[in-house]
Amino acid sequence: MRFTLRQGQPTDRDALLALEARAFEGDRFNRRQLGHLLTRANAATLVAVDADDAVIGYATLLFRRNSGTARLYSFCVDPERRGLGLGRRLLDAIEQVAVARDAQRVLLEVRADNRVAMRLYRHTGYVAHRWLDDYYEDGCAAWRMDKSLDSDAPTEPVTES
Ligand SMILES: CC(C)(COP(=O)(O)OP(=O)(O)OC[C@H]1O[C@@H](n2cnc3c(N)ncnc32)[C@H](O)[C@@H]1OP(=O)(O)O)[C@@H](O)C(=O)NCCC(=O)NCCS
Repeated sequence: MRFTLRQGQPTDRDALLALEARAFEGDRFNRRQLGHLLTRANAATLVAVDADDAVIGYATLLFRRNSGTARLYSFCVDPERRGLGLGRRLLDAIEQVAVARDAQRVLLEVRADNRVAMRLYRHTGYVAHRWLDDYYEDGCAAWRMDKSLDSDAPTEPVTES
């Protein structure tokens, strides 16, 4: 499948809103939240577009001042384009964005029943280190996972309060 990755722009907001509606059953971002994510300085969004410039996936990282940890805040691929390697490429590319912004670690939460995403994260070096009960709006639990971006360092579970 041919696609291009580029930085998200404020003009991508409606396309991301439509993609969210196709990709997630609940816990979606609304229009205002997406507009905020696409413009705030402490966020970075990559969008994947197909040959017709249609948005078919995106990933957003959040950064915190004085923190070496970037949080994968949103990540999805159009249901019709899944299983073709785009998710993996997008994840790899957003990790490169994190490295470019001096992050040493990526942190994320994933639904405990999301086997496809968990499998992708595990295969790309993420380690589950914390169980979060009743994390999503439907009551589903989450795993918090993280990955060290320092290729020399082993990924170790992180204890958080
Ligand atoms: C998770 C998601 C982004 C993966 O995107 P994708 O483009 O399908 O991913 P890829 O094609 O790169 O495949 C990644 C891995 O998942 C596997 N996979 C993809 N679709 C699968 C399916 N339906 N069933 C089982 N495995 C599947 C692939 O085989 C691949 O495994 P591998 O690394 O062992 O080869 C996509 O499924 C998605 O958008 N899901 C809904 C939103 C979501 O869950 N986001 C994550 C929130 S934490």
